[in-house]
Amino acid sequence: MQNALFGLAPHTVRLAYQTGFAGWRDVARRLAIAGVRPEEVAWEIGGDAGGISPSLREECKGGRHQTVAQPTRPAATLTVSRDFIERAETVFCHSNPERFALLYRMLWQMRSEPALLKIASDPDVRRFEAMEKAVRRDIHKMRAFVRFRKIGEGGDERYVAWFEPEHFIVERNAPFFVRRFTGMRWSILTPFLCAHWESPDLRFTPGANIRDAPAEDAVEELWQIYYENIFNPARLKTQAMKKEMPKKYWRNLPEASLIPRLVAGADAAAREMIEKMPTAPAPHHAKVQAKHWPASREPAPSDNAAGARSTQALREAAEGCRRCPLWRDATQTVFGEGPDDATVVFVGEQPGDQEDITGKPFVGPAGKVFDAVLEEAAIDRRKTYITNAVKHFKFEPRGKRRIHSKPNAGEVQACRWWLDHELALTKPELVVALGATAAHSLLGRAVPITKLRGQVIEREDGLRIFFTIHPSFILRLREATEKEAERERFLDDMHAVNRLMRREKIQNRGGKSRADRGIPSN
Ligand code: URA
Repeated sequence: MQNALFGLAPHTVRLAYQTGFAGWRDVARRLAIAGVRPEEVAWEIGGDAGGISPSLREECKGGRHQTVAQPTRPAATLTVSRDFIERAETVFCHSNPERFALLYRMLWQMRSEPALLKIASDPDVRRFEAMEKAVRRDIHKMRAFVRFRKIGEGGDERYVAWFEPEHFIVERNAPFFVRRFTGMRWSILTPFLCAHWESPDLRFTPGANIRDAPAEDAVEELWQIYYENIFNPARLKTQAMKKEMPKKYWRNLPEASLIPRLVAGADAAAREMIEKMPTAPAPHHAKVQAKHWPASREPAPSDNAAGARSTQALREAAEGCRRCPLWRDATQTVFGEGPDDATVVFVGEQPGDQEDITGKPFVGPAGKVFDAVLEEAAIDRRKTYITNAVKHFKFEPRGKRRIHSKPNAGEVQACRWWLDHELALTKPELVVALGATAAHSLLGRAVPITKLRGQVIEREDGLRIFFTIHPSFILRLREATEKEAERERFLDDMHAVNRLMRREKIQNRGGKSRADRGIPSN
C-alpha cells in the first residue's frame, strides 16, 4: 500500500546496524506518527558484514540510520512508556530479525493500548518477554564465562578472551567488563563483534575467529588451582552444574578440564570433608559480644537513639539493644549500612550466621546472590542503604551449626523501632521489602509477598515500598530450572527497582522531595 507521505512502497527501513536501537526508535516513531501500519513496513539490516562494519558504525553514531522510504511530515506526537523503551532496548539485542517488526507492532498497538505490556496473554507481549529474558540470560552467561588469557609481557601485556554469545550483547555488556577490569588492557573477541579496552578508550571492531584468541597462558594453571580449591564436592549436583555452566562454554574455561576428575572423586572427597569438620565450638561469639558489650557496660537505653542525627549514631546506640531477648545468643547487633542520603533502602529479614560474625548485613550466601543480581541490574550497592527488619541473628543450635530461625511477630515489632528510625533519617525515595518479614515490619501486619510482588504501595506517611522475595528463597530451591527461573524473576524485580530509582531521582532532581517523616515516638 502506498502512503502519501512516502515516495516509495513498500516502506523498507534499512537500519544501519544490528544494535542501532536509537535509529530504529527514531524511524519507528516517525512511521507511527505518519500512520504507517506495521504490515506496510519491511525492516532490514543494511551495510556489509551483517550490519556491523565500522564505517557504518561511524555513519550511524548517535543512532542515525538510512531508510529507503522516509516519512517527511510528522503529524502528531507519540508517547510510549519509558518502561517499554528501556525493555525494548534489551529486546533489540536479540538475534531474531523479527524483533524490529515485533517492536514496531507493539509500538503501534500502544497508541490505543498504552498498558499493552501488562496484558500477559497477548502473543506479542509474550514474545517480547521471552526475547528480553533470553538476552538477559545471555548477558549473565557472558559475565560468568568470559575467561581472559594473558598475551605479551611487560608493557605489551594484554588479556584476551573468546566468547560466543547467542545475541548481540557485546556493546551492552562491555561497560560491565570495563568496570570490573578497569586496570587491565583487554579484548573480548566474539564472532560478531569484538570489544577492546585500553583506558580510557573502549573500541569495537568486527567479529573475529576463535583462532585469533590465545588458547593457553601462564594464568591458566592459576585458574585451575583456584577452581580446584573452591570446588565443593559436598555440594556437587551434576545436573545443576551442567545447566548453570552448559557444555558449550567449557572449551573456553580453563577449569573445565578438571571437571570430569573432580566429579569422579566427589563422593570420597565429601566423606573426607565431613570427617575433617571442626569439633570445637566457634570461639567468636563470646569474644565479639564481650568486645561490643562488656559486662561493665549498662544495657543500652535504646531510647537514647531518639536524638540520633545520623545512622552512625543510631548504629552505636543499637549496639546494646535489648528490646527483645535475641541479643543474648547473637554475637552482635547487625545494623544497616550505607549512605544516609541513599535513594533506596533495602530491608531484609535478619542477619544470618556470617552477618552475625562480621557485623555487616548481607555478606553471607544470600548476600552473594543479592550482590550479583544488583550488579546485573546496574544498581550500585554502595549507593544504597541495606538493613534488616530484625537486627540480631536468631538461630537454633544443631550440633556445631547454627540454623536460621524465623523471627516471630513480637521480635519484628520490637525491632521495628530501629527500622523506623533508620527510615526517618535516610528518607529514601523507595524502600524495597525483601521477603515477608520485611514486608510485615514495613506494613505493620503479615502480608502475602507473592500477591504484592512487583508492586509499589504508598504508606500513609508517603513512604513508597516495592515488594519482592528474599534472595535466600532462590538458594533454598533445589531444582536447577526453578532456581534459574526465580533468579531471573528476582533480576526482573531489581531492574524494576532501578527504573523506579531513576524515575524518582529525575522527578525530584536528585534531591529528597518527600516531606520529613518525623522520628516516630515508639
Ligand atoms: N538475610 C537477611 O535478611 N539479611 C542479611 O543480612 C543476611 C541474610
